[in-house]
Amino acid sequence: MGSEMEEKPVIKVVALCGSLRKASTNRGIIRAAMKMCTESEIQGMEMEELDLSKLPMLNVDLEVNGTYPPLVEEFRRKIREADAVFFATPDYNYSVTPILKNALDWASRPPNAWADKPAAVASVQASSRSGQYHLRQIGVFLDIHFINKPEFFVNSVLPPKKFDVNGDLIDEDLRQRLLEMLLALKAFTLRLIKGKSQ
Ligand SMILES: Cc1cc2nc3c(=O)[nH]c(=O)nc-3n(C[C@H](O)[C@H](O)[C@H](O)COP(=O)(O)O)c2cc1C
Repeated sequence: MGSEMEEKPVIKVVALCGSLRKASTNRGIIRAAMKMCTESEIQGMEMEELDLSKLPMLNVDLEVNGTYPPLVEEFRRKIREADAVFFATPDYNYSVTPILKNALDWASRPPNAWADKPAAVASVQASSRSGQYHLRQIGVFLDIHFINKPEFFVNSVLPPKKFDVNGDLIDEDLRQRLLEMLLALKAFTLRLIKGKSQ
């Protein structure tokens, strides 16, 4: 038992949602992903969603002698300690949402908490794709290593209905695509961890 545990480390993933809506479909994606981890459909991976709603709006005046407000410090610590990051976010006006940009900016302050993190991104939105591509572009500067494939875009408008009224994922094909993406994130994260230990 012990040796199997040692061979397969548990990867800690933090999940960030770009929508604050109670019935957010993007948060529904995160809930489905967390369920895959807790119900062992994906083994060796833990996922925790971080609450972005309480972070203050970025203002460098809130930084005192290189320290940050307590909630920001806590958020930055969780990013630093994570093995990987999973984003699920809609597009707002062809770009990233303000809640997500605020979180990205806080953790980018020195020392950059995002540096060298493997990541994956899922996007549920009405039609466009540029929000996800902007996030990937921001990741270049922050040194986030996004997996390229499989890409995960969901059109929230086109039938069939993929989410219920609470934002829970109800489409089996989409669930399978999500599973494939998370398995790809896990494999990529393990490769990076292995590479660093050599
Ligand atoms: C301010 C605002 C701007 C939006 N801009 C876009 C957009 O540029 N492209 C798009 O496809 N959808 C856009 N949408 C629609 C949302 O992306 C869509 O409703 C999404 O499914 C909401 O995600 P959620 O269920 O996680 O809240 C916008 C919505 C809002 C509120």
